[in-house]
Amino acid sequence: MSKLYRVGILGATGAVGREMLKVLEEHKFPVGELRPLASVRSAGSRITYAGEEVTVMETNDQAFKGLDIVLGAADKPIAMKYANAIQNAGAVFIDNSNAFRLRDDVPLIIPEINPEDAKWHSGLISNPNCSTIITLMAVWPLAKISPIEYMVASTYQAVSGAGVAGPRELLAQTAALAAGESIEIKTFQKQIAYNLIPQIGSFTENGYTSEEMKMQNEGRKIMHLPEMKVTCTCVRVPVIRSHSISVSVFTKDKIEVEDARKAIAGSAGLILRDDIASGIYPTPLETSDQDLVMVGRIRRDLTNEKGLALWSVGDQVRKGAATNAVQIAELLV
Ligand code: A2P
Repeated sequence: MSKLYRVGILGATGAVGREMLKVLEEHKFPVGELRPLASVRSAGSRITYAGEEVTVMETNDQAFKGLDIVLGAADKPIAMKYANAIQNAGAVFIDNSNAFRLRDDVPLIIPEINPEDAKWHSGLISNPNCSTIITLMAVWPLAKISPIEYMVASTYQAVSGAGVAGPRELLAQTAALAAGESIEIKTFQKQIAYNLIPQIGSFTENGYTSEEMKMQNEGRKIMHLPEMKVTCTCVRVPVIRSHSISVSVFTKDKIEVEDARKAIAGSAGLILRDDIASGIYPTPLETSDQDLVMVGRIRRDLTNEKGLALWSVGDQVRKGAATNAVQIAELLV
């Protein structure tokens, strides 16, 4: 009989944690024990896994005892608080927060791109930023033809990227405005209903936000391209689910548009949706609630003949977070 694994989910009641439960089940991950962990607020509540009810446990340093793998779906401070306890319990921590992503002793993995990096982990592996995953999935087939020198990207990020509170705020504001009532702003910096917000994360010294710097910093590490440069603008949009990225990719050697299409169509985890004559290109609605990243609008960049412009869309709760984390766990078993 093949080995079964004792799996914990830190932040099991959140947007990403709930999706991790679904993906583990769908992928038929060999789960022997499933231990959902959350804050004291949710302790004792029940969630369903593989047709059975499981009780959510309060997280503390002892809660990880006996586990083989912990999938992290909580924010950075919580990941930092429990990382040692998880490793001391002998479990591998696959963390979705940005707490450890750039540490030299922590692999940062997109399984379709750098699965070999899972071999050198020492109990801690990071899951990349959601927009970074959805962008790199689309550009990696091009990087394999010719190394990427730089990229210029704009992201259109769904409200569910901010956790369960994001969609709640968009829907509440939309309903309040329709009823002629005043709105409440708690999760985002400004009104998100009928608006766009060009700020995700906090501003850094160079005028970019923390979210915008992830594409360059994490992209360099994942694709093993330490010199790659990325200029990025991250925008929150009133879309419930799935992030979209408009990106121009500049490679060392020119890549023909048709070769780019073929490379993308032939890559695992990607679907080419690129037929403008028939009105075919991906949108967030059609990519939601599934694992594939869809790519369209592939065309020559008009500023530089070594550039290609494209449009990449994927469900950031699935491939941008939960699915990628489960795929990393699959590399370990
Ligand atoms: P809870 O539901 O009990 O607050 P999201 O990003 O979607 O809001 O989800 C955050 C996740 O992190 C939730 O599962 C939440 O649990 C969990 N969480 C928040 N604070 C803590 C904490 N102090 N210890 C453990 N888990 C926490």
